[in-house]
Amino acid sequence: MPTILITGANRGIGLELAKQYAGDGWSVIATARDPKTADGLKALKGDIRIEALEVTDEQQIKALAKKLDGVAIDVLLNNAGMLTGYESFGETDTLSWLKTLHVNSIAPLKLMEALVEHVARSKQKKIVSISSGMGSMGGHASSGAYAYRSSKAALNMVTVTAANELRPRGISVAVISPGWVRTDMGGAGATLDVKQSAAGIRKVIDKLNVGISGQFFNYSGENLPW
Ligand SMILES: NC(=O)c1ccc[n+]([C@@H]2O[C@H](COP(=O)([O-])OP(=O)(O)OC[C@H]3O[C@@H](n4cnc5c(N)ncnc54)[C@H](OP(=O)(O)O)[C@@H]3O)[C@@H](O)[C@H]2O)c1
Repeated sequence: MPTILITGANRGIGLELAKQYAGDGWSVIATARDPKTADGLKALKGDIRIEALEVTDEQQIKALAKKLDGVAIDVLLNNAGMLTGYESFGETDTLSWLKTLHVNSIAPLKLMEALVEHVARSKQKKIVSISSGMGSMGGHASSGAYAYRSSKAALNMVTVTAANELRPRGISVAVISPGWVRTDMGGAGATLDVKQSAAGIRKVIDKLNVGISGQFFNYSGENLPW
């Protein structure tokens, strides 16, 4: 069965994805900042390997890549992400914005760079990052959340650039918006539950191939405007 590595898999959408993939017999490498407290992950049944990963810690990323030496990763799924708030014009905070860019835009690329050979030796050769409709410029008619919106827009550009570089190696790279999901981040008023969102994300990943690499998909399958 294929192998997937999911970051930020201890709660929210990441945990549900780990559950669904493991339930379908995949080998799941689930990362969490603090595996000791990842009770939801530990309770899952199936072939699950839990690894510690703070995604902004490049030494930890490199150590994980080394530890996984020889392992073929069919799908690298950058799911970990942060949202500090919906700050309005005049309310932005530089340090928390930089932190958001680190977690949401730079860390996914660092993971791609560290694990590209693991992906390259797999059968499916897919790299997917969870973006957001809030990072879409074409679909944007709202306000606030400068840090989060710009970090996801940057992730989208990272994805297209990496897709262009990795296409010759047969590696597909894409971004998927999970929809508005009831998690700690999405809040109780969101329209989707994690099951619906994760099931949609899995369908999109399943259909991904180099012919449609470098695109921005909604969890429901259609393309989103950049
Ligand atoms: N929920 C939505 O409506 C929605 C909409 C659009 C996009 N998204 C995106 O979907 C992804 C998952 O979101 P979610 O709703 O499941 O959020 P969540 O419930 O807040 O979970 C976020 C996950 O990311 C992890 N994480 C955050 N910062 C990290 C870091 N520096 N290093 C390692 N892990 C880190 C968290 O770990 P800890 O438990 O250690 O904090 C947690 O596992 C994110 O990329 C988010 O931006 C969500």
